[in-house]
Amino acid sequence: MDLMINGQRRALDPKRVPDDMPLLWVLRDELGLTGTKFGCGVAACGACTVQVDGQPMRACVTPVSSAQGKAVRTIEALGTDDKPHALQQAWIEHQVPQCGYCQSGMLMAAEALLRAKPNPTDADIDAAITNLCRCGTYPRVRAAIHSAAKALRGGKA
Ligand code: FES
Ligand code: FES
Repeated sequence: MDLMINGQRRALDPKRVPDDMPLLWVLRDELGLTGTKFGCGVAACGACTVQVDGQPMRACVTPVSSAQGKAVRTIEALGTDDKPHALQQAWIEHQVPQCGYCQSGMLMAAEALLRAKPNPTDADIDAAITNLCRCGTYPRVRAAIHSAAKALRGGKA
């Protein structure tokens, strides 16, 4: 089996990776992409959110076989230190992360939201970002999403 991860085809060892292994295990333990976090393991918290063909997915309950032939995107491909994504820039400006554990999942969910809705309302954000944050960063997440959305629209209100 192989997977397309962040634009690169990665071969997986079938002796180590059964079809039903959660995608999160493959990302972290087989491919070393540890930016995606394990929180609950039961699709409740969103810490493991990645994108599969552009849609946010909870990797802890996504069998790796279901991602075969699709484009998987993780936090490692959202931006770089030199060129952060508008969301990452807004995250810094609003000082969103506290402990930081939930934040990669938040960002991947937020990026999918902004592609679907470039000018989201608070209700859109609340409906799309169902990720849990034990540090209570929700108001800052919401403010940063509005800032990033505005920046991506070229500063238009
Ligand atoms: S670890 Fe996947 S939703 Fe919590
Ligand atoms: S920043 Fe700590 S859990 Fe969200």
